[in-house]
Amino acid sequence: MSLPHHAIRTLAVLGAGQMGTGIALVSSLRAKVPVLLHDKSPQQTKKGLTFLEKLLEKDVNKGRITSSEAKEARDRITVVGEEAGLKGLRDADMVVEAVSENLELKQMLFSNLAREVNPNAILASNTSSISITKIASAAIPKDVSAASEEGKKISGRVVGLHFFNPVPVMKLVELISALQTSQDTLDRARSFAVACGKEVTVSKDVPGFVSNALLMPFINEAIMHLEKGIATRDDIDTTLKLGMNHPMGPLQLADFIGLDTCLAIQETLYNGTRDSKYRPSVLLERMVDAGWYGKKSGKGFYEYS
Ligand code: CAA
Repeated sequence: MSLPHHAIRTLAVLGAGQMGTGIALVSSLRAKVPVLLHDKSPQQTKKGLTFLEKLLEKDVNKGRITSSEAKEARDRITVVGEEAGLKGLRDADMVVEAVSENLELKQMLFSNLAREVNPNAILASNTSSISITKIASAAIPKDVSAASEEGKKISGRVVGLHFFNPVPVMKLVELISALQTSQDTLDRARSFAVACGKEVTVSKDVPGFVSNALLMPFINEAIMHLEKGIATRDDIDTTLKLGMNHPMGPLQLADFIGLDTCLAIQETLYNGTRDSKYRPSVLLERMVDAGWYGKKSGKGFYEYS
């Protein structure tokens, strides 16, 4: 059987949080590729897989897929444990990194990935705002010049592939080209996202790309409205839900994304543009200081049981 255009025979997903688990699910269920799922925390992997199995079961109960399709999708996912490390991903043709929004962490991972995995594999980041060009530079070993053929080949494999939460539900993937990304990498990454059932938009590599450069000031402004006492939490969210037909109000959406993630993205926007319009609100900073990260920690603007 001939391979689809993306030519991905095995995908690796780095990080088994809500994004990584969702990416593993759509890759296995929709694109039907075997997935290697790796997270340094076995507890996180277990939690992610339990959630993924629940989503497959729900799809079966709703008659969208058969139980054998669900079983096949689950069986295509293999957990690569901590002992195997990144070496356990060496057979992947594409790696999608979905760890937390931390530039140093991503740079360290891409430097290691470029060494450990198949030298032709696409290295994609699901970052919501961090420069793909910076990540691509980090993939080049220190003793290799960025302008050499070898340096260009390594960094040309790096691309931004930004999924949205909840990944199984949201129809979009934002494709971001680093300055170094090759056309072949872009074409194959796009084709893979389409095989996962997603529509693709393209953004230049600017802080926050299109999605978060527009969404985060909106969320931040809503938090500032709350901070200034202009309206209550419920009135802010209800205004946007009922007045503008948004599925969630901005404060509920911030909780859903994670307040720590919102703050990390806003700091990237603020530091990357040096534009005061992106300055995170003090209330958001304090809530993150307090460990109130939103839905995932049980408390944010709302309480969750
Ligand atoms: N994971 C997977 N599926 C989920 C889910 C989750 N965390 N939460 C809800 N769903 C599914 C439900 O199972 C349900 O599926 P079925 O139709 O198969 O039953 C479907 O979503 C609808 O759920 P509900 O009926 O329970 O609730 P709802 O109608 O209120 O929809 C929602 C929930 C889809 C999350 C909707 O509120 C929504 O679209 N919210 C906005 C989400 C959004 O804006 N996401 C983007 C965030 S930004 C981002 O991700 C990128 C970034 O860089 C920060």
